[in-house]
Amino acid sequence: MSNPDPVEVLLVDDHPAKLLSYEVILSELGETLIKAGSAREALAALLKRDIAVVLIDVQMPDLDGFELAAMIREHPRFRQTALIFVSAIHLSELDRMRGYEAGGVDYVPVPVVPQVLRAKVRVFAELHRKTRALARLNAELEQRVIERTADLEQSRAALQQLNEELEARIDEKTREREQALAQLFEAQKIDTIGQLTGGVAHDFNNLLMAMLGSLEILRKRVADDPRSQRLLENAIKGAERGAALTQRLLAFARRQKLRPESVDIRKLVAGMQDLLDRALGPHVHLRNNLSADLPPVLIDANQLELAILNLAVNARDAMPDGGDICFEAAKADVPDGTAPSTLREGSYVRLSVIDTGIGMDGETLARASEPFFTTKGVGKGTGLGLSMVQGLAAQSGGGVLLTSRKGEGLRVDLWIPCADGAAAVPIHVTQRPAAAAAVHHACTILLVDDDPLVSVGTAAMLEDMGHEVIEVNSGAEALRMLEDHDVDLLITDHAMPGMNGTELANRVRARYPALGIVLATGYADLGDDETTTPDLPRLTKPFSQADLANIVAEYARSPRDAKDAAA
Ligand SMILES: Nc1ncnc2c1ncn2[C@@H]1O[C@H](COP(=O)(O)OP(=O)(O)OP(=O)(O)O)[C@@H](O)[C@H]1O
Ligand SMILES: [Mg+2]
Repeated sequence: MSNPDPVEVLLVDDHPAKLLSYEVILSELGETLIKAGSAREALAALLKRDIAVVLIDVQMPDLDGFELAAMIREHPRFRQTALIFVSAIHLSELDRMRGYEAGGVDYVPVPVVPQVLRAKVRVFAELHRKTRALARLNAELEQRVIERTADLEQSRAALQQLNEELEARIDEKTREREQALAQLFEAQKIDTIGQLTGGVAHDFNNLLMAMLGSLEILRKRVADDPRSQRLLENAIKGAERGAALTQRLLAFARRQKLRPESVDIRKLVAGMQDLLDRALGPHVHLRNNLSADLPPVLIDANQLELAILNLAVNARDAMPDGGDICFEAAKADVPDGTAPSTLREGSYVRLSVIDTGIGMDGETLARASEPFFTTKGVGKGTGLGLSMVQGLAAQSGGGVLLTSRKGEGLRVDLWIPCADGAAAVPIHVTQRPAAAAAVHHACTILLVDDDPLVSVGTAAMLEDMGHEVIEVNSGAEALRMLEDHDVDLLITDHAMPGMNGTELANRVRARYPALGIVLATGYADLGDDETTTPDLPRLTKPFSQADLANIVAEYARSPRDAKDAAA
């Protein structure tokens, strides 16, 4: 009979014949039978194998069966091993054996009844099989627990890694957000300073206009007093310097009146050569590396010259012992990794001014473009040079990038949009060639300004030219004046409470279409309203007497016009 999971049964007897008879009786159980002819053989088999049941003949010549049993029991490994004695039984000995706690003990009386022997061996064999199966199951279970634990450990590690990645991503996002916020804050700060500066510049403009106007008239009145003349020249120069500063402020505040046109950068830089040579001195070498096929850019040429001059002078100041300035320019299309992030998609020219000077550390670099930031000391630098360049670039649809390291010079990249053919050139009346001589007759001029300081200066200049001036301080009053005065020219401020200059101009034009109207604009007028009055001649504050003379010559109604209109 075959057994799918046989156990080992050890038969111990010193009579081979008896061993054989046990073997025959038990063979039908299908277990593995191992025979030992002596106690020694029996112990050897026990040590080598996993014996489930030991069948012991009690009377052996060299070792008594009970003694063998005692030896077996002593060994910790065999405490569980079942012992079956074949004997004419001494119950007392059997009881002693029972005293051992573990392992089954039984006996088969002599003469051996095969069924009884089989039944007893079967019981213990079965028990061993079950125990063994349980142990296997246990081991398997343990193995599974170990595997599961390893799986869990793996999952835990993966989770932890995921967690760490997530945390890193959150950190990165937080950093990005903080950076964006800082940038926003910086932009808002600059914007606020810009608004403030713009406002101050506006007032300055008006004050300077008043000063310049009065000074110019005074200069004529004291023509024969050279000492007063010198003082006046000085005062005028001061006011003009103030006006130049005001221009930089306006540029930074992006409130400048720009005249964008199609500009050939190579030509523009070539035209500045003398100016640059003079400004930079003999120890600074200029090198040009402007690519030959540069497309034209759209920008205010005068302001771009000023920006380049500012950058060159900065470079000069950064090279007290002399050095090189290199101009580079090449076409570049945005998107482009090196462009300022604010640029829109499109074609640009990147004009770079690179020096070999002292460069800037990170802190200076971060602040260099801030308005009024200077390291040049009080009275030496206004700290508006780079701000002006930034403002101009931004107002022109471009941008600026500074790259520098302490001791390694500065590179300024100025990104300027390409002109793409069409160039817009708005009217700019103050640039007209001098035509003061064209008007010989005296005119009546209606001057509208809510600021008496400005008004007095302008009126004085006009009267000095021989014109009659009617001064009013509001649009409503101007309209009333026109009803009963014959006026040849209307000069009006734009920014006034109530009716602004543009509204006044529109109403006057509707009723007196032949009357010349000129809009005098300061900073506040340079923005939004521009589109509503594209065809009105303009006078940009501060203006000189010559500017005023040109305007009057161009736009005042001549006596003949007046007659024609009357007829
Ligand atoms: N080429 C340069 N190399 C090193 N540092 C520079 C360079 N250009 C500018 N800087 C630093 O940036 C600061 C600000 O420059 P910015 O042109 O705005 O003002 P400024 O030159 O100090 O004054 P201003 O332009 O009115 O003379 C400078 O004071 C200087 O510290
Ligand atoms: Mg400067």
